Amino acid sequence: MNVRPARVDDLSGMQACNLQNLPENYTMKYYLYHILTWPSLSYVAEDHKGRIVGYILGKMEEEIGPDDPPHGHVTSISVLRSYRRLGLAKKLMIQSQEAMATIYRASYVSLHVRKSNRAALGLYRDTLGFTNNGIEKKYYADGEDAYAMKLPLQP
Ligand SMILES: CC(C)(COP(=O)(O)OP(=O)(O)OC[C@H]1O[C@@H](n2cnc3c(N)ncnc32)[C@H](O)[C@@H]1OP(=O)(O)O)[C@@H](O)C(=O)NCCC(=O)NCCS
Repeated sequence: MNVRPARVDDLSGMQACNLQNLPENYTMKYYLYHILTWPSLSYVAEDHKGRIVGYILGKMEEEIGPDDPPHGHVTSISVLRSYRRLGLAKKLMIQSQEAMATIYRASYVSLHVRKSNRAALGLYRDTLGFTNNGIEKKYYADGEDAYAMKLPLQP
C-alpha cells in the first residue's frame, strides 16, 4: 500500500471511498477546492493496482480569530473496511500534519469527531496524541455531539 499526495484525477476515488465510509459527504467542488488550494495537505492510500483505499482531506483553517495562530484542519479521513488496522490512517494523518507544520507554519491541527467513534478516537487520542478541546453540541446532521480535538505541531 502506497501513500502519496492526492491529485485531481484521484477525486472520484476519494469521493467513492468517502461515500462508503461516512455519512458526511461533500461536493466534487469541495474536494477540488482542497486539492487546488492546499495541494500538499491531502493524501491518498492506493493498493497495488492504484485503486484508492483511503484518503485524508486536509486544509488550513480560513476563518481564524485575531488571537488564533495559523492552524490546519482535517476535513475528512477514511480507509476502506478491508484495509483498516494496517496503519494507513496514521500515515495519512502524519503526512498531512507534517506538511501543515513545515509548509504553512501551522501551530496546531484541529478536527471534529463523533463522540461514539471509537476507532477514530483511538487513532487521534491514543496513537497521535490529540486532546479534547471541548464538545460541540449537535454538530452532526443526525444530532450527535462532536469532540473538537487539537494537536500541537512542531515548528
Ligand atoms: C478511523 C479510521 C480512519 C482508522 O483507519 P485505520 O487505517 O484503520 O487506522 P490505523 O490502522 O492507522 O490505526 C492507527 C491506530 O488507531 C487506533 N484504532 C484504529 N482503529 C481502531 C478501532 N477499531 N478501535 C480502536 N482503536 C482503533 C489504534 O490505536 C491503531 O493502532 P494499532 O492498530 O497499532 O492498535 C477508519 O476506522 C475509518 O475509516 N473509519 C470510518 C470513517 C471514520 O470514522 N473516519 C473518521 C471520521 S472523524
